Amino acid sequence: RVLRIGLIPGDGIGKEVIPAGRRILEALPASLGLKFEFVDLKAGFETFEQTGAALPDKTVEVLKTECDGALFGAVSSPTTPRAGYSSPIVGLRKKLDLYANVRPVKSVGSKNPIDMVIVRENTEDLYVKEEKTYEGPNGKVAEAIKRISERASTRIATMAGEIALRRQKIRESGAPSIHKGPLVTITHKSNVLSQTDGLFRQASKAALAAEKFKSVAVEEQIVDSMVYKLFRQPEAYDVIVAPNLYGDILSDGAAALVGSLGLVPSANVGDGFAMGEPCHGSAPDIMGQNIANPIATLRSAAVMLEFLNEEKAAAMIYAAVDANLEEGKLLSPDLGGKATTEEVVADILKRL
Ligand code: NAI
Ligand code: MG
Repeated sequence: RVLRIGLIPGDGIGKEVIPAGRRILEALPASLGLKFEFVDLKAGFETFEQTGAALPDKTVEVLKTECDGALFGAVSSPTTPRAGYSSPIVGLRKKLDLYANVRPVKSVGSKNPIDMVIVRENTEDLYVKEEKTYEGPNGKVAEAIKRISERASTRIATMAGEIALRRQKIRESGAPSIHKGPLVTITHKSNVLSQTDGLFRQASKAALAAEKFKSVAVEEQIVDSMVYKLFRQPEAYDVIVAPNLYGDILSDGAAALVGSLGLVPSANVGDGFAMGEPCHGSAPDIMGQNIANPIATLRSAAVMLEFLNEEKAAAMIYAAVDANLEEGKLLSPDLGGKATTEEVVADILKRL
């Protein structure tokens, strides 16, 4: 199978970590029967300065018509608002209908083991950005629309159920796990927002009640108490499904539990397309020093592969990364080590 992958380094350390993502894909053993073709694509603030568009049409077009997947580094946003600039990642999610943001959060060798996946709805909720400000009787008032649809809630919950089943299958193949069976936790605040979050809750429960999910345990949790439990008892979570805003907040919070932003991957997933994206930004404070941790990107390449149905290849990447972390000899400075980006990549490639 030949997979065509768009590479979008973006800005800052994106340019240092995306080449590492390419190298790990190229280093996968031939016995997997996988070949990769890469297309270099532009997006980000530098692209905006050069061309006037942060997300050139060509990038979208090539991804849509030629690619199976993509790796996206990070982009810098302007510190003061700039006319014509809008976030390329938000644009890509919309234009390619990447309706799920999937973020696995896993600890290695910690006494508080964590192994969860947060599945965040990516297209609606407060992020439809329909806001207005007006003069009320007592001064200015601002309002935003929170839009929840049955269709989007159903498809995100279905994806969460499928991820739970896939994780269970990997466990049954003998991979060590802290979880006994598949579990999906539905997150909402329907005690207050009975219509919007109420619909998310009801549609998610209905989707997860499907026959194919009969082995999946389903529980629900109100988002605030969820944050409490996430920090007190993170080992309790397997797969979490949430509307856009709660999912955004929970996933950055969960990332904090495993140490460094440089470790946490994500993927933006649609039907038949997956784009891996480290969850960190462009890190201008460390760019150009060859010390960026490449692991978030290497793991993002693995998440992308999982959603392109190449689970075996993904598992090999995860294992090579975990082995590097478990040994703990060649770590980048964000993890307290002294290794360069190059040295970390070389160690992981060797293990692969
Ligand atoms: P950031 O994630 O770039 O950096 C936060 C801190 O974590 C910094 O001290 C940085 O050095 C460190 N860090 C991040 N990734 C690392 C890695 N791989 N290895 C070692 N250390 C790492 O967030 P910040 O500083 O808030 O934002 C910087 C720029 O990135 C801004 O322009 C922001 O808008 C943009 N950004 C872009 C994102 C994206 O493209 N998805 C996400 C977050 C921020
Ligand atoms: Mg975020």
